[in-house]
Amino acid sequence: MLNQLKTLINVLLKPYRITKRFYEIISSQKLTNDQQLKKLLEYFQADVYGHQANIATADLGYGFIHYGLLRQLKPKTVLCIGSRYGFIPAVLASACKDNGFGQVYFVDAGLDDTNSGAYTGKGFWRKPEGMKIFEKFGLGGFITIFVTKTKSFAKLYPDLVFDYIYVDGDHSYRGAKFDFMTFWPRLLPNGLMAFHDSSIKERLIEGDYGVWRVLKAELKKRAAVVFPSLTAGLTLIQKPVSLRSK
Ligand SMILES: C[S@@+](CC[C@H](N)C(=O)[O-])C[C@H]1O[C@@H](n2cnc3c(N)ncnc32)[C@H](O)[C@@H]1O
Repeated sequence: MLNQLKTLINVLLKPYRITKRFYEIISSQKLTNDQQLKKLLEYFQADVYGHQANIATADLGYGFIHYGLLRQLKPKTVLCIGSRYGFIPAVLASACKDNGFGQVYFVDAGLDDTNSGAYTGKGFWRKPEGMKIFEKFGLGGFITIFVTKTKSFAKLYPDLVFDYIYVDGDHSYRGAKFDFMTFWPRLLPNGLMAFHDSSIKERLIEGDYGVWRVLKAELKKRAAVVFPSLTAGLTLIQKPVSLRSK
């Protein structure tokens, strides 16, 4: 009876095992490691809609753009402003880790929905699990967390310059303009400044989105790459070679 039951279970599981094996073979031939990508997406609770990502297919969405750029640019210093649970900061730190060097300065005020200007923040960076999350994922040496507003961070490190800047903090027109005006002069020549949520042009429950307005003026003057989307959008602008503070 027991043997018959075992045989039945084996027969039932066979298609599943074949599918799993097939998936393993296909995955092992990919340039990327699906298991590691899924682990990262799940561990940092990626906002899949906001970043055009998909956990089931190990798709980092916009994360692939940031990862690819950092692998090629090989930055020494990266500034990352704002994240709910750490998805994009983890992608940036992973790229530095895979390069073998580089440091991500991750700045988030640790706001949640009891504060104005949280923009869907969960107060995660004020909690002990938030402070330890990158270390636990093996990224500790490549990222440092600053639980503060960008205004205080800018004063704390007035001489720090960056090769790559990612902006996803205060999404109001004033907030996004402040981050642009403060950190654009600190971007090195040829460096890139990336803005998340550049497609949202309305007031949502969490607040008014004004990133697009800041960029509207800048896009007339600068080289840019725009990834429009209904759910968020991503825009990258590049610092001209000889105009460090312009
Ligand atoms: C939660 S993110 C937006 C979601 C994000 N798109 C994601 O994928 O996780 C916005 C974050 O910006 C932070 N923030 C808001 N204003 C800030 C400021 N002035 N300086 C630094 N961080 C700020 C909030 O604490 C919040 O965690």
